[in-house]
Amino acid sequence: MSNKLKSLAILVFAGLQLSSSSAKADEGMWLPMLISRLNMEDMQKKGLKLTADEIYSVNNASLKDAIVSFGGFCTGEIISSEGLVLTNHHCGFGNIQALSTPADNILANGFWAKTKKDERPSQGLFVNILQRMEDVSDKVLEGITLKTPEAERSAKIKSVIDKLIAENKKESYQEVIVREMFDGNAYYLFVYNTYKDIRLVGTPPESIGKFGGDTDNWMWPRHTADFSLFRIYAAADGTPAAYSESNIPFKPKHFLPISLKGIKENDFAMVMGFPGRTNRYLSSFGVDFAVQSANPLVVKLRDARLSTWLADMNKDPKVDLQYASKYARIANYWKYFQGQTEQLQRLKVADLKRAEEKAFRDWVAADASRQSLYGDPLATLEKNFASQKEFVKPVTYYGECAMAVEIIANSMALGMMEKALIAKEDVSKFTGMMTKNISGIYKDYNRPTDQKLFAVMMQRYAEDVPANQQPEYFKAQVKKYKNNYEKWAADLFNKSMLADQAKFEAFLKNPSLKALQSDPAFLLSKSFADAIKPLREKSEALAAESRVANRLYMAGQLEMKKDKKFYPNANSTLRLTYGSVLPYEAKDAVNYHYLTTEKGILQKEKPGDREFDLPANMKQLLVNKDFGQYGENGKLPINFLSNNDITGGNSGSPVINAEGHLIGTAFDGNWEAMSGDISFEHQVQRTISLDIRYTLFIIDKLSGASHLVDEMKIIK
Ligand code: ARG
Repeated sequence: MSNKLKSLAILVFAGLQLSSSSAKADEGMWLPMLISRLNMEDMQKKGLKLTADEIYSVNNASLKDAIVSFGGFCTGEIISSEGLVLTNHHCGFGNIQALSTPADNILANGFWAKTKKDERPSQGLFVNILQRMEDVSDKVLEGITLKTPEAERSAKIKSVIDKLIAENKKESYQEVIVREMFDGNAYYLFVYNTYKDIRLVGTPPESIGKFGGDTDNWMWPRHTADFSLFRIYAAADGTPAAYSESNIPFKPKHFLPISLKGIKENDFAMVMGFPGRTNRYLSSFGVDFAVQSANPLVVKLRDARLSTWLADMNKDPKVDLQYASKYARIANYWKYFQGQTEQLQRLKVADLKRAEEKAFRDWVAADASRQSLYGDPLATLEKNFASQKEFVKPVTYYGECAMAVEIIANSMALGMMEKALIAKEDVSKFTGMMTKNISGIYKDYNRPTDQKLFAVMMQRYAEDVPANQQPEYFKAQVKKYKNNYEKWAADLFNKSMLADQAKFEAFLKNPSLKALQSDPAFLLSKSFADAIKPLREKSEALAAESRVANRLYMAGQLEMKKDKKFYPNANSTLRLTYGSVLPYEAKDAVNYHYLTTEKGILQKEKPGDREFDLPANMKQLLVNKDFGQYGENGKLPINFLSNNDITGGNSGSPVINAEGHLIGTAFDGNWEAMSGDISFEHQVQRTISLDIRYTLFIIDKLSGASHLVDEMKIIK
């Protein structure tokens, strides 16, 4: 490792060790192995009763052993000695939907396995349990400086990482991942055990698990039972294994006891989980780009997709079930980008960034050696965001308009097969894979809905994307159909084999180049793919340049703010955030309480509504205040707020009290802080969690699955 970089790394971590009392506890997604150095004192001051070793330890059972990465996109926590996993309803949603049919609609009706035999294997689902993590910066960055040419740098880094992975992967069921932190100024290694036999144990009906729907999504006050239960199964010796009837419930090193003691304002609360991505060190140019260029396009195109889908979902329960999961996924970030845009503007985040950038440039300008080391990375970022603006439209329209149409997206997979057919190569590996996946694809495909969306989206594309950025084949079709998009859609769906499972299956049995090259959906998708390729290449070249600039900017900030405790951006690695149960002031004279109760559910209820309907048995329990041991002073606690620092990927994360007991499950963030992934908002940013007492009320009182509560360790 070069001196410059080494001294930098020492600076980073020396800086990290200084305990600065001005550090705000609420902001920060901390790496669990560093909390003893960085946060422990502060956490204990805030009320934590545990030691660092009880939170993260490689050799002894600790909280980390009870936290799982759920399917790679969410978090779950183990809450029994028999591998019971609690996560969000919206995390289990795709699997619950996949296990549902119109005749056995567990998404709509809920599901509770009476015995372990009744638990339903969830195909494709896995959980990862972290075994250990390690700072490998010295090894990965040995011989590399901030000046090392990029090609040399990436080749060197890759060879070290490959070696580290090979050395550390001791078992076939283990996954070893090396992740860069601080834009490539540090590297960490993670070893996971991957469990692939995961079964659905229980879920409330969608009306309860997604109560409030998209209207309430990303907002407070909230009344959602956003949870579902799964179980990890393992081989008889406890090691991970593929699904088998003979597998047994997994025995974890640790599981979370559950507290029924309740919460009050200022109580210590921490969250452990796998946050996906934040962009806390984004430049002002990036903020402006999101607000002005990228976000509005995504929102507009998703508007069109969602309203087209919803019209058909409302008409037919079969389509409603088919499109439920896709719809929820698209709608979640449709609303996210609206909120992000609104709050970035309201909170003047770009101005904030500009002030930081000026301070950085002044600091660099004050010293010749800084000038030669860091240069002006902000100038590069400014230039690159300006260039990106030139093709943000075709790139976004490719992803959110053309690829929104399922028949076009599905046709993309045939590009490789065409190449193989042209080269007269064996295509059985393509046809085999597609044949395997085909029923999965068509189970959730409604051709008339997709045909409608095709007409809507092709018109959008033709009208919005500048003609010189449209593919020639696309333009020729628009011309041929004289802008009659319904007619074009009808013809294409009539002719294309992809519109029909039987036709497509027949093709896969006997694939011919001629059939492929005369398929109008394939030809169209190919024209979009060809048109996007050069833009992708340009955009990747810019991204590579920006990566270097970001690394320099980050390195400079780390040196400039030596005394500040830095935490790396979220990157789907295990993090811990701590703070307190806390209300907030949304705007002048609007003060939100930190806890909602069943009263709010009854106030919001709208019989027959898509989002606010309530099952009759639920309503009766609430009206009768029949809460069992889960109520408090005649009220049933539902959702609560804390000032923890979470993002997408944290969904399903445990909220843990000062004793290490589970008090809730994190499931959302609040509207006033939707800019939070880019800039943490100390005054208003909150985590929204499901109170564990409402979860247990639903399992036990509403659903009669008390055998599951018996499995848990309840602390009263
Ligand atoms: N906003 C939540 C998140 O991203 C997802 C909530 C899902 N609920 C819904 N109504 N779509 O974690």
